[in-house]
Amino acid sequence: MSTNNKAVLTYGEGKTAEFPVLKATIGPDVIDIRSLYGKTGQFTYDPGFLSTASCSSKITYIDGDEGVLLYRGYPIEQLAAKCDFLEVCYLLLNGEMPNQEQNKEFVNTITRHTMVHDQMTRFFQGFRRDAHPMAVLVGTVGALSAFYHDSLDINNPEHRRVSAMRLIAKLPTMVAMAYKYNMGQPFVYPRNDLSYTANFMQMMFAVPAEDYKVNDVLVRALDRIFILHADHEQNASTSTVRLSGSSGANPFACIAAGIACLWGPAHGGANEAALNMLEQIGDVSKVGEFITKAKDKNSGVKLMGFGHRVYKNYDPRAKLMRETCYEVLNALGLENDRLFKLAMALEKIALEDDYFVQRKLYPNVDFYSGIVQRALGIPTSMFTCIFSLARTVGWIAQWQEMIADPEYKIGRPRQLYDGAPRRDLVPMNKR
Ligand code: ACO
Repeated sequence: MSTNNKAVLTYGEGKTAEFPVLKATIGPDVIDIRSLYGKTGQFTYDPGFLSTASCSSKITYIDGDEGVLLYRGYPIEQLAAKCDFLEVCYLLLNGEMPNQEQNKEFVNTITRHTMVHDQMTRFFQGFRRDAHPMAVLVGTVGALSAFYHDSLDINNPEHRRVSAMRLIAKLPTMVAMAYKYNMGQPFVYPRNDLSYTANFMQMMFAVPAEDYKVNDVLVRALDRIFILHADHEQNASTSTVRLSGSSGANPFACIAAGIACLWGPAHGGANEAALNMLEQIGDVSKVGEFITKAKDKNSGVKLMGFGHRVYKNYDPRAKLMRETCYEVLNALGLENDRLFKLAMALEKIALEDDYFVQRKLYPNVDFYSGIVQRALGIPTSMFTCIFSLARTVGWIAQWQEMIADPEYKIGRPRQLYDGAPRRDLVPMNKR
């Protein structure tokens, strides 16, 4: 981080304090206020981190106004068109694209870590069959820390690397197990002759009674979903992983915390909510009525899959997802899919409506990813699990970056206390 100039704060009665401004490679520079309290005796107030950079990072860059998303400097459009998910994983973790040899070794390592300890099956079986798969995933990913003691020393880079590999490799197996358990079907073991994504699909959809046939168009679509969800800088779940990890907690526990955060409907639960919303609207003729409700603050209704904290333009991932949506529906002969038509009608009306235009509310990735996943045969209750699987690499790359950062400290925000001032306790008989 280089410093190029200073920011001067005027406060109190004509007092001033100077702060360095740290230069970003691209995007806004930041005012380094670490010395603010020491210099002024005051904190900053920024609930929701609207103007606060919680760390420096070299992994992902978003320009929300221009609709740009870069992983390690590479545009998401190029990665989605030319790479597979494991190449993107390598890039996020290591900072550079793999050459052929590095790629082969990485794929081989991930492939050979896909099985989970056999005793893990009992953890799954301990849940009610009707448990939400995300509840199962939070619990079972946390439980991994009870199985892999040989990679829990966070101060050992080799332990950190092995834990990262284990998490990326085992998440598909565990997500598929959560699904199979919920369905009442037997768990399906990983197959090392298949690609990462094809293997995940066979663990989800194969049954012992018949052969599973891999459909390349569908595998490519799911692989693209994984790529588009792999990282997204300091969003709520990633910040949760960093904050949990800042105390020295083990990576399995930190990723379980990230999964818990992702579950919320304002974050990873949005594609499930977007699809439910489309089902609820039901018909193109009801779109106008629904939009009116979404604009009314008292209705408690939002247009799910619309709006984003950072993108104030079309989410670049939503464009790619819309393209994938066409491909999948064509491959499956579902060009006239009711919900897809409804989504397009809704998007068209919302993009022309003053309320959405003024507030810069555009479709986000979740608006279309639910339709694609539904066409792939993935039930809505599994959508956030799929998102967790894909985001695990981003979480673990950000966690690794934090631990290796010499400036890393335990995360400990301050507060504006506006409760009662000091007072004395009144005995119970006098209250
Ligand atoms: N429908 C209707 N109105 C909306 C919507 C929406 N989807 N999103 C925001 N608004 C309105 C707000 O009511 C607010 O209006 P106001 O200025 O008149 O008070 C204005 O637009 C700004 O919205 P904020 O809530 O301040 O924006 P914020 O950046 O805090 O929230 C969020 C972003 C949480 C994503 C929000 O847009 C939302 O809830 N969208 C629906 C859920 C969703 O799709 N989430 C997925 C996010 S992407 C992801 O996690 C992968």
